[in-house]
Amino acid sequence: MKVLVIGSGGREHAIVHKLRKDDRGLELYAAPGNAGIQLLATCVPIQVDDLEGLLKFALEEGIDLTIVGPELPLVLGIVDIFEAKGLRIFGPNKMAAQFEGSKDFTKAFLMKHKIPTAKSETHTKLDEALRALDRFDLPVVIKADGLAAGKGVVIAQSKKEASDAVTDMMANQVFGDAGSKVVIEEFLSGIEASILCFVDGHSIVPMQPAQDYKKALDGDEGLNTGGMGTYSPSKVIDEAMMSKIQRDILDPFILGIKQDNINFKGILFVGIMINGDAINVLEYNVRMGDPETEVTLIRLENSLLDIIEAVETETLKDIKLTWSSSHAVCVIMASGGYPEAYEKGKKISGLKEASDTFIFHCGTKMLSGDIVTNGGRVLGITSIGRTLEEAREKAYDGVAEISFEKACFRGDIALF
Ligand code: AMP
Ligand code: GLY
Repeated sequence: MKVLVIGSGGREHAIVHKLRKDDRGLELYAAPGNAGIQLLATCVPIQVDDLEGLLKFALEEGIDLTIVGPELPLVLGIVDIFEAKGLRIFGPNKMAAQFEGSKDFTKAFLMKHKIPTAKSETHTKLDEALRALDRFDLPVVIKADGLAAGKGVVIAQSKKEASDAVTDMMANQVFGDAGSKVVIEEFLSGIEASILCFVDGHSIVPMQPAQDYKKALDGDEGLNTGGMGTYSPSKVIDEAMMSKIQRDILDPFILGIKQDNINFKGILFVGIMINGDAINVLEYNVRMGDPETEVTLIRLENSLLDIIEAVETETLKDIKLTWSSSHAVCVIMASGGYPEAYEKGKKISGLKEASDTFIFHCGTKMLSGDIVTNGGRVLGITSIGRTLEEAREKAYDGVAEISFEKACFRGDIALF
């Protein structure tokens, strides 16, 4: 069987690693992949937004199943294009991908179906958006409606910061078209968690939750990033809380998509904010999280292809997910400067996997025989252990072996 994985990050490396672990006989391809993925799969230099190029490759190569890693091709409608040609592809269609492609679409859905979320207003006119700010307390959250490469959310501490953010998005178009509509939202405090779920249109099956550390610096200081590290299972979410999440957030999602005729098949990533008894939805994503995937798939005992098949045949309710009793910790090594400007092309040394430690490549490439940095987040050093402490120790032992110029990482992943 030929399987194509679309993407080039740690998430896709973890997906390829899991597929290879489940079935050594698979013929794996990745587009475009990275220097780590290429040890497990044939990498083809087609970018994730080149839908026609990907389709042509899948048809010519006779790919049996395509798994889409990142949101961009999903939001652009890759699933509709592949399915129109009779190809199997895992991920939501263009209509359903709006849960990530439009924050306003998601807010309208959440409110319509009474799923708890922060109070918000959507605006398409600059003067109205600026006036709306008076109706919100500080800090206030300003979100560009469309995809903005993870940078479209500003938590404004002052009135000026808020009006600057609205003006930058709407008038100065810093995120292009994505900011022509803005969502202004009440700020929620608490602890964030990511609930990743398989959805077949009728059932929603959550994976064991992971905790993501989004801030760049130790102690949750500094700028928001795509995620600087994760651990799983979560200490924050116990069984009682998971039942509440299922009842108040996940089950209403299924009822809502049925009522609204949205055919959602794939992964739903529910970002939540927990504050005591209050659990609010912050966002939906329509793909696995990165680096949540690294600590999740490594502990999943079912075959990923079996689950994907159950999603396709709408028989997810018959699948029971089983998890290793181990703990997993992923520490991201990033390029100095990330999430702001950083340099690429730094030679990486010390890339040697130890037992129970896996080095997932997030942003790397081969250059004249060397593996060099090729992104903000470079590597996800992921370890498993009998306890969280053991996994954490092994992951940091792994980090200590690796070096590249201006490497940076947080020292407190899985500590709190
Ligand atoms: P989003 O893409 O909507 O998840 O926003 C990115 C990040 O901004 C989230 O992971 C949170 O850390 C933060 N955020 C978003 N919305 C809110 C909110 N209403 N209150 C507090 N923080 C938020
Ligand atoms: N780690 C957060 C995300 O994948 O969106």
